[in-house]
Amino acid sequence: MSLLLPIDENIWCMDGDSVSMYTIPFQTRMTIIRQNDNNLWLHSPVAINESRINAIKELGAVSHIIAPNNLHHLFVNDWFEHFPDAKVWVAPDLPGKLPKLTFYGVLGETPETSWKDDIDQVYFQGSNILPEMIFFHRQSRTLIVTDFIQNHDPAKNNWFWKIVKRFNGVLAPHGGVPKDLRLTIRDRKLAIASFERILEWDFQRIIVSHGICINDNARAFFQKSFDWLNA
Ligand SMILES: [Fe+2]
Repeated sequence: MSLLLPIDENIWCMDGDSVSMYTIPFQTRMTIIRQNDNNLWLHSPVAINESRINAIKELGAVSHIIAPNNLHHLFVNDWFEHFPDAKVWVAPDLPGKLPKLTFYGVLGETPETSWKDDIDQVYFQGSNILPEMIFFHRQSRTLIVTDFIQNHDPAKNNWFWKIVKRFNGVLAPHGGVPKDLRLTIRDRKLAIASFERILEWDFQRIIVSHGICINDNARAFFQKSFDWLNA
């Protein structure tokens, strides 16, 4: 079985290992976009191994590696070592938190010239803990979210974690913005502005880094996920 799951033309997912954060298990997922210059854009890299590297190499050369928030940087340097011609881009708050992190550039409010034709981006702000870059692949009308929407697979969690994740609002099919993350929103105006900018994109599906992607009624799922913000 291929390690690459085709999502649509020029966009794939690659699932990684389960990682543990504060003992909580998280399934992980990387998103790969082939840009119109044929180079690859990697979002939130998963743990590296030889077969994953080979699968990516078969797709093409990696030009950009994205660390979309201050938690999803763990494997960035491993991928950069194997694709040294790539540029590593990090979320705006990452350099301050990890001064030793090696990177090429800091992600901003507008997409970089080298991917703006393929991908748009919004810096979802308002959280004092975990602001996040959220992306939109234009060709496939796909929203790419890292932690702000989670939809954990019940089949990959034991009874205990299913209870915890249901309580935190992140268990599929009723996933959404984790309740603990909602509590970190300190600037609602900024968060609402970010939410509204994302809704301007005509997306038809949501890729999430943790859990089951949303392929049906994605806009309704997204809006429902942020009911608490607009209440
Ligand atoms: Fe995460």
